[in-house]
Amino acid sequence: MDVPSLPQTELPIVQSPMAGGATTPALVAAVAGAGGLGFVAAGYLSASQLRDQIAAVRDRTSEPFGVNLFVPWRQVPVSVEGYRRQIEPEAEKLGVALGTPRWDDDDWAGKLELLLSDPLPVVGLTFGCPAGAVAALRNAGSAVAVTVTTVDEARAAAAAGADALLLQGAEAGAHRGSWTPDASPVALNALLEDVKAVTDLPLVAAGGLADRAAVRGVLSAGATYAQVGTALLRSPESGASAAHKSALVTLGETTITRTFTGRRARGLVNEFIRAYETDAVEAYPQVHHLTRPLRAAAAEAGDTGRMALWAGTGHATAQDAPATEIIHALTP
Ligand SMILES: Cc1cc2nc3c(=O)[nH]c(=O)nc-3n(C[C@H](O)[C@H](O)[C@H](O)COP(=O)(O)O)c2cc1C
Repeated sequence: MDVPSLPQTELPIVQSPMAGGATTPALVAAVAGAGGLGFVAAGYLSASQLRDQIAAVRDRTSEPFGVNLFVPWRQVPVSVEGYRRQIEPEAEKLGVALGTPRWDDDDWAGKLELLLSDPLPVVGLTFGCPAGAVAALRNAGSAVAVTVTTVDEARAAAAAGADALLLQGAEAGAHRGSWTPDASPVALNALLEDVKAVTDLPLVAAGGLADRAAVRGVLSAGATYAQVGTALLRSPESGASAAHKSALVTLGETTITRTFTGRRARGLVNEFIRAYETDAVEAYPQVHHLTRPLRAAAAEAGDTGRMALWAGTGHATAQDAPATEIIHALTP
């Protein structure tokens, strides 16, 4: 049997899967059409929603693309009740009730079954690397690309049979793809250098890549692909809300915060983060479900003070331009 490998694309650019609505079928298809490698973001979707998204991309392109899955973590015995009471007034100001904090596995088994019965060229795994799932996906013919944020995770992913490693540097927008909550973020250049020293697997470098020089830098440092997310967020194909798109250029600093989902993620600093970072609890996905109605109502109202404005450190140069143009402008 052939060993699965990342699809050969014309351009060495990967589009970040961006769960929560930013990655649309139109974005994946546009990136694939431009010669890059697009990823459907399966996080938060049910298996049937994922099936529909895959079909919608296939309707638009015959180029290869991948799917990214969230690997569920064990349930942690942490109470979110104190945090719920603290943030309740914020939901009241928006006229909504907070959600019910609950643990779930993001329909992991259903989505895995779908991808095993209808395999794609590549499947990305984020937040972990279960060896059984890696083997099953590879047996089905998919290359498995695993997100790693430390050299230890890189070693473990290689040992579990990964076909490629997605290196997520500290600069990256949205959730840390770390396998445990205590992994310290490592700057992309250092991570690339360290991981290159321990594996010959193809490496995809991600985090804060905002211009052609930065992309050229990681490719010449040994990455096979550069991956970009934030750079595509303002494109018309992106499903990010209008308020998120404009905040990328009007707000300044980013930080890593647990306030919105109970898992560390990089976003633009706003009032909600300033007010609640100290009290936020590390409990994912309980806090994600708790704040979801608040975040949705804030996005609807264009209230950037209470939204999760995920962004990498390079957000200020994100362009409002078609995804194809952005991809070409980033390619050395
Ligand atoms: C809005 C947004 C949502 C994201 N969602 C996911 C996701 O669903 N799965 C995943 O593996 N990474 C996700 N990421 C992280 C990316 O995979 C990648 O690490 C990041 O985009 C790279 O940094 P950059 O945004 O500065 O380019 C997301 C990033 C952003 C900006």
